[in-house]
Amino acid sequence: MPLDPIKGKPLKSNLLNGGGLGFQTPAGSRGDVRSTLAHDAPGLLKPPISQTARSRPVSVVTGASGGIGRWIAEGLAGAGHHVVLAGRNERRLSAAAEWIGHRVPGCSLQVELADLTLLAEARGLAERITGRHPAVDVLVNNAGMFSARRRQTAEGHEQVIALNHLAPFVLVHGLLPAMRAGARIVSIGSDTSDRARLHVDDLESRRRWRFVHAYAQSKLALLIATKGWAQRLQGKGIVANTVHPGAVATGLVRARGPIGLAWRLMAPFLLTEEQGARTPLHVALSDDFAAVTGAYVKRQGPVAPNPLALDPALAARLWSATEALTGVRATALPARAER
Ligand SMILES: NC(=O)c1ccc[n+]([C@@H]2O[C@H](COP(=O)([O-])OP(=O)(O)OC[C@H]3O[C@@H](n4cnc5c(N)ncnc54)[C@H](OP(=O)(O)O)[C@@H]3O)[C@@H](O)[C@H]2O)c1
Repeated sequence: MPLDPIKGKPLKSNLLNGGGLGFQTPAGSRGDVRSTLAHDAPGLLKPPISQTARSRPVSVVTGASGGIGRWIAEGLAGAGHHVVLAGRNERRLSAAAEWIGHRVPGCSLQVELADLTLLAEARGLAERITGRHPAVDVLVNNAGMFSARRRQTAEGHEQVIALNHLAPFVLVHGLLPAMRAGARIVSIGSDTSDRARLHVDDLESRRRWRFVHAYAQSKLALLIATKGWAQRLQGKGIVANTVHPGAVATGLVRARGPIGLAWRLMAPFLLTEEQGARTPLHVALSDDFAAVTGAYVKRQGPVAPNPLALDPALAARLWSATEALTGVRATALPARAER
């Protein structure tokens, strides 16, 4: 039985799980409506995307297995989107999909496995999504982490910058061919970026590891890159904004060691995950943000970012460094976005 991603307990569910590949909405709620749940891990059967999915706007949410991302995915499903839930853990993603299916009868969901600390998996995710969906309307770059220790991925990148900044860069670039006018890119930043410093020549913290700096720098890099996409996509009808969701009691609260303890002590004063999803959802869905691009948004609305984010020379250096680290040549945009 799938686990509740928040409580870690089995979900009491009357969903019919079709071998993990599809499920129906709960009996008694519009039970004739089918949700589409597709696991796209290599080797797993791919059920066809239903006609319903084809006629809906398509949203992609990374890190949708828990925390703020799960609620963002729920909100987009509730708004009638076909939602691609991307993440690294099939069990948690499936549990999140089932949870959303309970809450949004008739929703259309798709689960995509990808460990986004690995750029090859970010590239593969973009290829699978563009292969199945001719159009992508919303991309929420939500998956994020911090780490007390410096760790390198199998590709040789430091994992925090890889997940928080490099993977979104690869994913945006890979999905652009499917983005049409009206599409929105929403990056989940953090107010730790407000006072962060940016060492473009040491994005991977090879010289010295300070975990707060590494996280804050990665979020500042994400913000500057998202502004970079906004500028490059001006006139194409695609907007790109960064959102600080607030201080939210999420998976961080369950972290081990002193970081987790500090968050648990603060938990009563933090936003709930549902509250943390509200600003990202507003930026992703509201007419208020249809034409806003390159903004840094907090709960009260667009705010001034770290002054470093307004330095065009620094932004250009970061863009080049990010291209070098990812192997993405993002100066020339892919075909669809060029038009
Ligand atoms: N909580 C806050 O106060 C706060 C404040 C500012 C910004 N943020 C940002 O908000 C975003 C969401 O974080 P959260 O607070 O909701 O934390 P969370 O509960 O830890 O959720 C993080 C999500 O990212 C996924 N993820 C982690 N590593 C991944 C990987 N290698 N590949 C793919 N997915 C991965 C997690 O999947 P698993 O289920 O597999 O772990 C989970 O779904 C992050 O970008 C975070 O930096 C949070």
